[in-house]
Amino acid sequence: MRFISNFKNNQSSFGWVAIITHWLLAILIIGLYFLGDYMIDLGYYDQWYTLAPKIHEAVGILVLAFMVFRIIWRRTNIEPTPPASNSKLVNLASKIAHSVIYILTFVILISGLLISFAGGQGLEIFDWFTIPGPAEFFENQASTAGEIHELAALALMALVILHALAAFKHHFIDKDTTLSNMLGIKEKQ
Ligand code: HEM
Ligand code: HEM
Repeated sequence: MRFISNFKNNQSSFGWVAIITHWLLAILIIGLYFLGDYMIDLGYYDQWYTLAPKIHEAVGILVLAFMVFRIIWRRTNIEPTPPASNSKLVNLASKIAHSVIYILTFVILISGLLISFAGGQGLEIFDWFTIPGPAEFFENQASTAGEIHELAALALMALVILHALAAFKHHFIDKDTTLSNMLGIKEKQ
């Protein structure tokens, strides 16, 4: 087994920048989902009551920064050509699924920011710095944005499960390079 050596994408493979940001974001986003789900049930006297949301928000901001970087990188790089065995329908379905993943992630990030900014308060990143909060944009901002945040997070997780199943199907059933490409593995010619 050999690994690719390119940082940028080329016709046949993703480069390391796209690969590392993909897996880093996957871990952070899935981690945020479980942390979010855990922290909303914490009682006032629980030791994680204040810290868990702080970590959730700070990591969320990190995800936002990586997402913006990833999109810029994607726009300034070529996309590897899909395996020749893919039907047109599979290529179209994966393009649509990837776009919906991006859209849902931004809906989650923006609604998360709106929950934290509700009431016009700033977003404190530990004791480090505060991102100033704009005034409330609409009534009941925290609860409306909270509903959207929860629903979009659920929808993203469902889509990511399908996305991972599709990757495994490509690897184990179609035996093509889709998953190896996202792992930086160079197939034998
Ligand atoms: C929260 C988790 C995840 C997110 C947000 C995510 C997002 C994405 C996006 C947006 C793409 C399109 C690449 C591009 O930007 O051009 C992609 C590609 C890919 N992802 Fe994920 N992903 C996640 C988890 C996973 C998991 C768990 C697996 C596999 C076990 C996986 C396997 C792949 C593969 C193989 C590709 C390449 C697909 C292709 O070449 O058409 N992803 N992912
Ligand atoms: C992709 C990134 C994120 C994911 C997957 C995620 C996921 C979640 C989940 C699953 C919950 C629990 C929702 C519920 O069941 O009611 C939650 C709550 C929350 N999230 Fe996020 N989140 C993300 C990013 C953010 C960001 C960027 C912020 C703010 C800067 C944020 C702020 C919050 C807040 C304040 C809550 C608590 C809401 C409440 O008390 O009802 N999240 N998040």
